[in-house]
Amino acid sequence: MVLKRTHMCGVLRSSDIDKEVVLNGWIAKKRNLGGLIFCDLRDKTGIIQIVFNDTVSDMLHHQADSLRSEYVVGIKGIVKERQSKNKELATGEIEVFVSELIIYSEADTPPIYIKDDDNVDDNLRLKYRYLDLRKQKMQRNLTFRHKVAKTARDYYDEMGFTEVETPMLIKSTPEGARDYIVPSRVHPGSFYALPQSPQMFKQLLMVGGTDRYMQITKCFRDEDLRADRQPEFTQIDLEMSFVDMDDVIEIQEGFLKRLFKEVLNEEISLPLPRITYEEAMERYGSDKPDTRFGFELVKLNELVKNCSFGVFTNALSAGGDVRGITIEGGSAQFSRKDIDKMQDSLKAYGAKGLVWIRHGGNEITSSINKFFSQEELHALLTEMNAKEGDLCLIVADKPKIVFDALGFLRRDIAKRMGLLDDSNHNLLWVVDFPLYEYDEETGSYSAMHHPFTSPKPEDIDRLQSDPGSVKAQAYDIVLNGVELGGGSIRIHDRSLQSKMFQILGLSEKEIEEKFGFLIEAFRYGVPPHGGLAFGLDRLVMLLTGEQSIREVIAFPKNQAAQCLVSEAPAPVSDVQLEELEISIK
Ligand code: AMO
Repeated sequence: MVLKRTHMCGVLRSSDIDKEVVLNGWIAKKRNLGGLIFCDLRDKTGIIQIVFNDTVSDMLHHQADSLRSEYVVGIKGIVKERQSKNKELATGEIEVFVSELIIYSEADTPPIYIKDDDNVDDNLRLKYRYLDLRKQKMQRNLTFRHKVAKTARDYYDEMGFTEVETPMLIKSTPEGARDYIVPSRVHPGSFYALPQSPQMFKQLLMVGGTDRYMQITKCFRDEDLRADRQPEFTQIDLEMSFVDMDDVIEIQEGFLKRLFKEVLNEEISLPLPRITYEEAMERYGSDKPDTRFGFELVKLNELVKNCSFGVFTNALSAGGDVRGITIEGGSAQFSRKDIDKMQDSLKAYGAKGLVWIRHGGNEITSSINKFFSQEELHALLTEMNAKEGDLCLIVADKPKIVFDALGFLRRDIAKRMGLLDDSNHNLLWVVDFPLYEYDEETGSYSAMHHPFTSPKPEDIDRLQSDPGSVKAQAYDIVLNGVELGGGSIRIHDRSLQSKMFQILGLSEKEIEEKFGFLIEAFRYGVPPHGGLAFGLDRLVMLLTGEQSIREVIAFPKNQAAQCLVSEAPAPVSDVQLEELEISIK
């Protein structure tokens, strides 16, 4: 028998005093004071104190005495004003005096505490995720995620988008990560790939006349994991016909405005700022700049080109750059040892060293005192806009290394200085991405976004003569240094598409194998189209102020890409392998 619930635990307030209520939930805590037994009862909305008084009945009191943490119960009782109020609880003004109790199920002692701030090992949390999910924070996050998804569905529906499901068992997609592959039993030796995104299918939907498509969908990428990366993640995926870049951007801005208002009650003003890829790199060393704080990069090439410090001049003569950042008030805050550690952390980006200069008013100290006079150091500090008490950090290397190293450093230092306020939401578009990325090792070009991204019309005539200079009609939306989404206007012209493939060095055979069905479809009338995909997990992570997308996914993978609840991946039986005609080495 189930006691029919009248209220959720967390919603009861003083205005409910004297009401008879029925509640269902988990026992979160029990205190036995003899004549009175107090329990905290928990459901997804919160916690309320329930009280058993031995004057009600011996049997009820005996039953209450047997309760342990995580037992699942139903109770009936009367809401009363609480004697000792608890300001920490939303229901802390009241308690429920119980007249009836049903124990639905008993529970063993749980292997983790069900407490928001419990500092338990992540893998243990993930193994017992169903217990972890009982935490108020986790339920809040799931509900929040649901609201974001619902707002997206409502908004795009009102804007004329149709949600269409695309297949999960497909041929490889062009997003550039490694595929998860699924063997076919019916076609031994052949494999499906799980989609890295619905990219080609959403373009086919445009050929199919769907006009405006949206889908909240799973994507699968076999890549190294980070705090904002999971092997399976969710996109809010969009595609529109007969649009240019401004149309696509305007629609997404409308969504973001609505979303921020609905889930955070925050007004964002439109249009959002736009910054070119080039400017983002020059000023922030990153194509997903965090603009909540300064520490902008300053190019020092001119100033140091004739200096006697080989590290600088060698970098310049090898086509590299010398750039620095100024940490306001950083001189007192960071010791020599701290700077050594920073230098170590830059090795991951390929930087071999980190030069420092401290502005001490009349006296300037630095790691390059031997090579620079005080006047020269002064000139560097002036160029870097440094004031007394500031710390300047300089990297000299290949441009990519300098950008990556300083891009990382400025954000890392800001974090350590407590400058990253998560309630401050800095949204911006990065536009005018290069169409191609040049790979020095292979000496070839690859598509920076994907090979269907259209070049800017004014750059098309340089496609063959100077591919590196061609800009794409591609755009990323960035929030506080995280790439929230990205998209582009697609190529819908067949001869332009062939040129694009040629420059990427793809043979006819490769083109046919990889993209044949899309190229074929484009023969039969294709509208100009473009779109974008938001990372739903990242969006929810940033809006809830979490530091990892794992906190906003019900059953995420751990760092080693395992699902610890179901223990996947796992070996399969010999019979299954035989059916698939697969043998394991
Ligand atoms: P892109 O590859 O930029 O574009 O992906 C879009 C957004 O998805 C999120 N994202 C991820 N989130 C969590 N874990 C991951 N491993 C992961 N990888 C990507 C990011 C990213 O901005 N088909 C194109 C979109 C288009 O052109 O319309 C695409 O997938 O937030």
